[in-house]
Amino acid sequence: MNIVVSGTGYVGLITAVCLAELGNKVTCVDINQEKINMLKSGKAPILENGLEELMKKNKEKLIYTNNSKLAYKNADIIFIGVGTPEKKDGGANLKYVYEVSNDIAENIEKDTIVVIKSTVPIGTNKKIENIINKNARNNVKVEVVSNPEFLSQGTAIKDTLYAKRIVIGVNSKKAEKVMKELYKDMNIPIIITNRESAEMIKYASNNFLALKLSYINEIANLCEKVGANIDDVTKGMGFDDRIGDQFIKAGIGYGGSCFPKDTKALNWCANFYDYDLKTIKAAIEVNLNQKIKLIKKARKYYESFENCNVAILGLTFKPNTDDLREAPSLDNIQILLEDGANIKVFDPVGEKVYKNINFEKITYCNSIEDTLNGTDICFIFTEWNCIKNMNIQLFERNMKKPIILDGRNCFDIEKIKKYKVIYESIGREIVNNA
Ligand SMILES: NC(=O)c1ccc[n+]([C@@H]2O[C@H](COP(=O)([O-])OP(=O)(O)OC[C@H]3O[C@@H](n4cnc5c(N)ncnc54)[C@H](O)[C@@H]3O)[C@@H](O)[C@H]2O)c1
Repeated sequence: MNIVVSGTGYVGLITAVCLAELGNKVTCVDINQEKINMLKSGKAPILENGLEELMKKNKEKLIYTNNSKLAYKNADIIFIGVGTPEKKDGGANLKYVYEVSNDIAENIEKDTIVVIKSTVPIGTNKKIENIINKNARNNVKVEVVSNPEFLSQGTAIKDTLYAKRIVIGVNSKKAEKVMKELYKDMNIPIIITNRESAEMIKYASNNFLALKLSYINEIANLCEKVGANIDDVTKGMGFDDRIGDQFIKAGIGYGGSCFPKDTKALNWCANFYDYDLKTIKAAIEVNLNQKIKLIKKARKYYESFENCNVAILGLTFKPNTDDLREAPSLDNIQILLEDGANIKVFDPVGEKVYKNINFEKITYCNSIEDTLNGTDICFIFTEWNCIKNMNIQLFERNMKKPIILDGRNCFDIEKIKKYKVIYESIGREIVNNA
């Protein structure tokens, strides 16, 4: 089968490489020339565990190109994995999906199955099918299939090759057969639904996870007031199978390219249908406040951060990814800079990440030690292993004033108590030994 994947981002590239691993020949299309050049040279444009190795292993089966005309022409299946970012009103911006759809309509020369991997609002699959079929030349027809993606950045390859389920939304038995055939060797449960249900499964899943995080963050905030410890509370909760131990780790709120936009998009959809989606509205609001919770705590020590020397450990929205989209670190850096702080940052992904930040006047350091040197306060925004396992003595030894605001509960409270530091985290007691 001639498979094409449009978009070589976190979803498109992983999909393509995993389909190649399953034995298919896959053509990857992207409008970004720089990405295609990198891919052609064997380098992955994103940080994802095992990706470059799998690209190398399957290099005979993978073609990278900017030429969509040639790629779409003889495709049997075209996957669409382009971005669906947030619009100003909270709705999903479908500009890129529609651009690809028009491109497909202009260039296909035979009947094709178009598979939507991008997260799109309910009803979009049907709309795309209508657009392509209305504009396609040569009397060719497409069928659009919804096949939402559930991978998590950092573990994307494992999440794809050993997925918990594959959701396929179809409008015909023919498309169902082709999709089942494509995934038959994976030995993963396949759920066949109509396209609207498949689209909703994706939004409902992401929104549920965001809800879980906002819920536990609120419980953590309450723990601080009543003297409970959120780590113990979640441990006690997680043993209950009905609750589970995933997505109940308290912190400074969710970020990334999915939860923030997908909660707003589902809320937008509910508004459109005149339905008040109270739980999700609350999850969004809780998250907005949670993101700047550390700054509020830090105001106890510094009313203003003017000329304050600030160390920041961790920039990415979570560990094991190079993605900065909607990372809580960025909101906080913005506030600190507006206040006049001098900022030094460290993130193990390195300068590549720092260069993606449009902030001037912050200094990137290559080590935790250099970042902490001479600073008045330290904020932790990402729980990278190198931060969790760092020598705690460095705070005491290198900072001018060892005040630590930890948004990811990286350290054990009892361990921290052995050092001369002020330490505040999320949902736990304050340590004040300085
Ligand atoms: N990132 C995730 O963890 C994740 C997980 C599940 C679902 N999703 C969804 O998958 C979709 C893609 O997300 P992503 O994070 O991979 O996005 P991304 O921004 O990393 O990648 C999108 C790619 O599409 C390319 N592109 C744009 N227009 C194009 C066109 N006309 N033709 C070909 N390529 C084009 C861009 O250049 C870019 O490389 C989104 O809808 C997202 O919500 C993302």
